[in-house]
Order: sequence, then C-alpha cells, then structure tokens
Amino acid sequence: MGQTIVLPVLASAAALLLAAAAIGDEPETGRPLYHFTPPRNFINDPNGLVLVDGEYHLFYQHNPEGDRWGHMSWGHAVSRDLYRWQHLPIALREADGIMIFSGSAVLDRTNTSGLGRDGVAPMVAAYTGDGLGKQTQNLAYSLDLGRSWTKYAKNPVLDIGSKEFRDPKVFYHHDTGRWIMATVLADQHKVRFWGSSDLKTWEMLSDFGPAGAVGGVWECPELIEVHVERMTRQTRWVLKVDVNPGAPHGGSGGQYFVGDFDGRTFRADRKPDEPPLWVDGGKDFYAAQAWNGADGVWIAWMNNWQYANDIPTSPWRGAMTIPRQVRLSRRDDGYRLMQIPHPSLEALRGPKIELGPRAVPPGSMTLAAEGVEGTSLELMAVIEAGDADTFGLKVRTGKGEETIVGVDRKAGEVFVDRARSGNVAFSRDFPGRHGAKLPTGRAEQVVYLHVFVDATSVEVFADGGDVVITDQVFPRPDSRGVGLFAEGGTARLKSLEAWPLRP
Ligand code: FRU
Repeated sequence: MGQTIVLPVLASAAALLLAAAAIGDEPETGRPLYHFTPPRNFINDPNGLVLVDGEYHLFYQHNPEGDRWGHMSWGHAVSRDLYRWQHLPIALREADGIMIFSGSAVLDRTNTSGLGRDGVAPMVAAYTGDGLGKQTQNLAYSLDLGRSWTKYAKNPVLDIGSKEFRDPKVFYHHDTGRWIMATVLADQHKVRFWGSSDLKTWEMLSDFGPAGAVGGVWECPELIEVHVERMTRQTRWVLKVDVNPGAPHGGSGGQYFVGDFDGRTFRADRKPDEPPLWVDGGKDFYAAQAWNGADGVWIAWMNNWQYANDIPTSPWRGAMTIPRQVRLSRRDDGYRLMQIPHPSLEALRGPKIELGPRAVPPGSMTLAAEGVEGTSLELMAVIEAGDADTFGLKVRTGKGEETIVGVDRKAGEVFVDRARSGNVAFSRDFPGRHGAKLPTGRAEQVVYLHVFVDATSVEVFADGGDVVITDQVFPRPDSRGVGLFAEGGTARLKSLEAWPLRP
C-alpha cells in the first residue's frame, strides 16, 4: 500500500470495431441525440460510474437478449465529455443462473485489494448477484481500464441469506481511510453500511431507516458529500435512496436525506417521520448514481417501473437523463438538493436565438416565425407572472400534440403536462401532469425555466435547479414547435434564449 500504480495505455481499436458492429444499420427514428441510449435492447439503472484518467465509465443494467427486462448483465460505454458515448462490449454477463444486478465501481489506486498485477491498478466493480434464491454482493475486476472483466474467485463477498439485499455503492472515505459500501435491505426500508480496508472483507457499520417514504421497496442507495451553494468550503452528506412504488406521481422515484456521515453512521437532519424530500418532481428519474472520482455529478435512468417495459422505442428501450451537477441550498427549514445541467453540455449548443421582452396574453403563441423550434433543444426562459394564473412554455408542439412546461401560481408549482404529448396510450400510468412546489412565493414573481428537450424527453430545471422535473414524451418527429402560453391573464416574457443541441 502507499505507492501509486501506473495505469496501462489502452489499445482500443478492437473495442471500437465491436461497438460499430453492435450499432447495426437498420433505419430508425426518434433516437435521442444527446441522451445515452444503448445500441439495442432493454436498459435500466446506471451502474459502476467511475471517472478514471479523464474517461467517464457508464455501465448499465442491460438485457443483451431482448427489449424487456431480463438476463440482467452490465452493458458498458465510455465518454470524455458526458455526451459522446463510445459503446464497448458487455462487461459482466449473467451466468450459471445468476443475474448481474446493480452496483458500482472504483479505481483501487493503491491495490488495497491485491487484485492488481504487475503495477497495474485494478478497477473493481461491486455488484449484486441475483439467483439461486438470494441476493449477494460480489466483486469483479479489470486490469485494462474496464475493457475486460474477471469475476473474483471467492465471490460472494457478502451473503446474509436474504432475497432483498442489493445495489452496493462503494466509495473511498478519505477521513477514515477505508472503503464504504452502502446496500439496501429493500423490504425492510433500510440502508446498511459496510466498511473495508481491502474491498474483499466487509464489516457491518450501521443501518439507516426506515425513514421518509416507505411505500415500496428501497433500492439503489447513493451517499455523497455535496457542496453547499455559496459557502466555499461547507459540505453536507446526501443519502439518496429510491422507492418503488410509492413516488409522489406513482410508481418509482428517488427520495433523499441530508445529514452527516462520520465513516460509520449516517445521521439525518430531519426526523424519520417528516415528509420525504424528492429528488425529482417528474415521473422519470430513477436509480441515480454519482461518478466516483468526480465532484457531485450524477445521472439517472430516465424511466419508471410502471411502464419501463412498454415505452414505444425500438430497437432500444430505455435512456439515461442528462448528467447533472448536484449542490445543496440552505433554507430556513434546512438544506435542499439542487441540480443543474452539467456544464459540459454547453458544447452541444448550435447558433443561439435570443428573444426580447414581450407580453404573453391569454392563449398560446408559437415561436416558429422566430426560428425557435426543433426536437433537440435547450431553452432558457425568464417569465414574469403578471396577472396570469398559469403560464410558461409549450414544446414538441404539432398536430394535436403539445408538452406543457408551466407555472401554476395557485398551486405554487412548476409542472410538466404530457397528457397530449404524443403516444401516451401504451400505459394508463403514462399520461398526466406532474408538478413540484417552488419555494414559497416564487410562483408569484419571475420564474426562470431552463429546459432540455430531446427526441423522447423533457427535463426542466426551474429557478436555478431548486425544482427539477424529468418526464419522457413520445411525440411524432414532426412535432417540433415551441410556444409561450398564459391562462387567466397576461404574463410577460422577459427573455428567451434557445439553442439547437447536437453532438
Ligand atoms: C432498480 C433495480 C435494482 C436492481 C436492478 C435489477 O431499478 O430493481 O434494485 O439491482 O434494478 O435490474
């Protein structure tokens, strides 16, 4: 231990060839331009997120054999900018009746695990093995920057004889100088923390929960140290844990707790019976994981277990959200999570269109004449409520189709309404309006809406990331319109900036 081991230079030509072959050549429509999607077949949770030598690794829950959930394995892609992804061969495959469920990865820089060889630091993945009547935690390692993987010979490293024990998130805790693993006891609504000096033997540290939302199983815990906005050196710990079902708009969603972590125990600021805090106000943000080695950057599976197997895309099914920077804001009643789009996405911007102030009288007005339209766009609108009750933007508008991104003053919330967004018929749980409260009084004033539109999604970051709404939509490709609207009075657009986005 102690000395840093040099990483090997990678020969990736073979991987590139494989990836090109995997993409196939059938014509397709409606594939997102800047959201991660697999070449084909089903995906769910992001797994194994780790930044190594400037390369972001994205592993993901994947069925290599079909476009519905099953045969879970880890797919793999890498990127240096978080929007151009190079597809790599499957990293970990289902074998001997054991599926590879969610987990995480680290770079074991000083070879604490002893799995490195000849001075090469191993990448170590921790995943849940699901099969033979139980769930256990297991390791796999790679000596070539994640291009090939070996399952650890003495797996499992944790077996408590449970069927509901999964989703290990491992990270290095600097203050105590050892590895921490967060897992869930899913049906007991507990996060169980473990500690290790070598990634192979784990000591139980503590349990957190039940607390907050317990309407369904707990899944995919994430524990990260997060900066407090405008306080240069202050950080707090955020424990995110997903719930399925039991999210505010139905189905699956993520809740979070802010508190302290001393290397053994997580202590939440709020009491266990206080109402839960939700990470996202929409329906399609699940299983978020942060990159080990990056500073509070996470991504989530943009879907909901209510209809994940039925969304109308082909030959792939499932996408990730845009990567986001997470921060905390300090309010009178405690800390709140903020999310902002990762700054690397600014490189996707095409020529900017800027609109000046104008009144938005009751009704809708299209912005096509000013050139604001498209299926992959970024919009930044600053809108004053005026005497309107409801106001905002419409995106992906076309014949009989519109997705509304609005502010409802009476409800004090920002919302996305996808009731008439396009194909909504594949699930009765899909159409609807999903709102999230703005901090008190904000809806009365000027609201700042930062919106990312792509072929199958809308992501809204309101008021600098205080409120975020992530919703999938499936409009026709020719529903490209963007508009402004107001109801019950006249609102006022102060400014609008719009960019076409393209890698
Ligand atoms: C969350 C989840 C995890 C599990 C994985 C299986 O979406 O249910 O708890 O590890 O998906 O694919």
